Amino acid sequence: MSSIRFEQNLSLKEKPDASKLEFGRTFTDHMFLLDYTEGQGWHDPRIVPYGPFTLDPAAMVFHYGQAIFEGLKAFRTKEGKVMLFRPNKNAQRLNVSNERLSIPALDEDAFVEYVKALVEVEQDWVPSTEGTSLYIRPYIFATEPCLGVRASKQYLFAIILSPVGAYYKEGIHPVKINVESEYVRAVRGGTGFAKTAGNYASSIKAQEEAKEGGYAQVLWLDGKEHKYIEEVGSMNMFFKIGGEVVTPELNGSILAGITRDSVLHLLKTWGVPVSERKISIEEIYTASLEGKLEEAFGTGTAAVISPVGQLHWNEHTMVINDGKIGELAQKIYDTITGIQNGTVPDTFGWNVTI
Ligand code: COI
Repeated sequence: MSSIRFEQNLSLKEKPDASKLEFGRTFTDHMFLLDYTEGQGWHDPRIVPYGPFTLDPAAMVFHYGQAIFEGLKAFRTKEGKVMLFRPNKNAQRLNVSNERLSIPALDEDAFVEYVKALVEVEQDWVPSTEGTSLYIRPYIFATEPCLGVRASKQYLFAIILSPVGAYYKEGIHPVKINVESEYVRAVRGGTGFAKTAGNYASSIKAQEEAKEGGYAQVLWLDGKEHKYIEEVGSMNMFFKIGGEVVTPELNGSILAGITRDSVLHLLKTWGVPVSERKISIEEIYTASLEGKLEEAFGTGTAAVISPVGQLHWNEHTMVINDGKIGELAQKIYDTITGIQNGTVPDTFGWNVTI
């Protein structure tokens, strides 16, 4: 791995008040950059002052959307140590996304090293107030100036950092979600399993309409039959029905969330019955009518664990656990955030210390 060049930012910003942090509004003093050029591969890793890019107006990302991203977090423990949560999983998933969009793969160990190097430089930006963290956004986009429709021969890999609070204004309080009945997020054979910018672009219209109705997010159904639950765009979904926990199986159109995987590990370790399978919205509605829908919650890096208090599907409104956080969601939230903050033993070896 080539060594990382460092250019110090000489005008450092003031750190924000940790109690007022929103999601993704404040950025640190430095960023990481790495170029790709066909024939040369990935080259010139550097940490430089945070600032605007200069791009050719014909850069292919603007025209054909070759852009993928990741999201992970760094946490500060009570002792002041800074830790990353499962960064190797993000490295693997980045390459899954790269492969789908014909972007050249990045060495996974190098990815983790780059993240660690930037977070180390910016470690004073990792907040310590409860519920806060330093959100890490690695991303890649096509930079070659060309209007032909094909894979770009040049890319930029960047990492930026943002001290964050809760993703939803509700925090750990249950959110209201609308089950999307018109638009679809992904289809089999499409890009649903990859973390492409385009997946998020096409979700915004439905999200705006849901917001107008007072919902925090939309729950996507499958693109073919409009029947099976997929995900919430920023979260994977879990339901507790009659004592069993279920989550949609990874079917090619759902993102393989790292928090989703962590929750599955925890539930299996605790001996909670859990299955990954197809779940129809009809099944959830029936369970709700029969009083068997005990809990619903979303999982994601940004959202962590977000209980769902109300699910709206066509003319039906399902109120879950009286609109309160469920016992299981609370236990998972406490355990995951405890592992991340170093207050719960990391028996799975998920944390990587900076
Ligand atoms: C994440 O949880 O890191 C995400 O990427 C979801 C969202 C903020 C786009």
